[in-house]
Amino acid sequence: MIRCVSCGAEYDDDEVIYTCEKCGSVLELVSDIDVSKDVFDGRKDNLWKFKECIPVDETKIVSLDEGGTPFCKCDKLGDELGVNLYVKVEGSNPTGSFKDRGMTVGMTKAMELGVNTVGCASTGNTSASLAAYAARAGLRCIVFLPSGKVALGKLAQAMFHGAEVMSINGNFDEALEAMTALALEKHLYLLNSINPYRLEGQKTIGYEILRDLGWQAPDRIILPVGNAGNISAIWKGVSEFYNAGFVKDLPMMTGIQAEGACPVTNAFKKGDKRVVPVENPETIATAIRIGAPVSDIKALNAIYDSNGYSETVSDEEILDAQKLLARTEGIGVEPASAASIAGLKKLVGEGVIDKGETITCVVTGHLLKDPNTAIEACTKPTEVDADIDTLRKLLMDE
Ligand code: F0G
Repeated sequence: MIRCVSCGAEYDDDEVIYTCEKCGSVLELVSDIDVSKDVFDGRKDNLWKFKECIPVDETKIVSLDEGGTPFCKCDKLGDELGVNLYVKVEGSNPTGSFKDRGMTVGMTKAMELGVNTVGCASTGNTSASLAAYAARAGLRCIVFLPSGKVALGKLAQAMFHGAEVMSINGNFDEALEAMTALALEKHLYLLNSINPYRLEGQKTIGYEILRDLGWQAPDRIILPVGNAGNISAIWKGVSEFYNAGFVKDLPMMTGIQAEGACPVTNAFKKGDKRVVPVENPETIATAIRIGAPVSDIKALNAIYDSNGYSETVSDEEILDAQKLLARTEGIGVEPASAASIAGLKKLVGEGVIDKGETITCVVTGHLLKDPNTAIEACTKPTEVDADIDTLRKLLMDE
């Protein structure tokens, strides 16, 4: 069953519907977990090991073996900050971001519904993932990208997997509005995270974190927030496993935004339940360059209900954290993902995070998604002839 998160109106699972027809709010799938957690044991460690908890037809699954991502204990960085730190590395998914979790479920639903065209607006990663899964499913794929604001790796993926790419003169919010209008006219099936089936895939990040910690909740989950789907999905996942009795506690959901694109943090700091859109969002973390997040209600509910928090970080803090994670722990992430680490540092400094807390930072996309930003952050390699004497001298002088 699909239910409106605001007015509770109910809709059938097979209705192609993105927002509530009665009040216009966002929708969610309602599913009860009626299996024991032992059923997951011994299965291949991917997203579909949780198939009983995902409300789609398992004979129609379109998968690239997503999920089951690394869960790295980061003692060097954790000790420096005085916390017990784990990093959930979502860049290890097939197309290099957490979007693959949402897309395997969304594309499976598309096959169930028998659609022939799928589409999304994207800051990059959603389009890369959609293009790959549409190729695997054999469906036509249309993506709208904000012109000049999509990192190179993501653009390469969307184009190479055969999506029809439109470079929109406008920002992500405007591209999404246009794409949604076309979906409502039934030209295509919309696979942005306003589609509640996307979040049914992404909630498995929450499932895995609890499982990875030996069926315990961390004190806190920290992640970047853009369109606000992922924080909502992870909260749904951990809540479902908590309600099923698989864990005894729930984590505090902590959403980090870039200073130039922070409607959710603004709303949180005022205690509001809805955001006031940011007109011209701007940040180096182009993945989260979003001013009007569609899942604002769900995200703010997640933060308030979990006794969580929201904070902003500057572009400089993001780039510093990106380098810190890469150089102390060997984990390469794109700028938006580093917002979670930058947020951790800032909240430890502000005393919001207590010493000794067990924290999971979700890092959402791979370093190679945005090679230009990575290269610009480094000094150029030294040009030198392959002459052993010169090389020896250079290395010994270091
Ligand atoms: N991190 C990365 C790497 C992302 O690509 C995104 C969103 C987020 C974090 C934020 O997640 O939107 O669920 O709050 N990227 C979308 C896209 C908007 O089009 O790829 P969110």
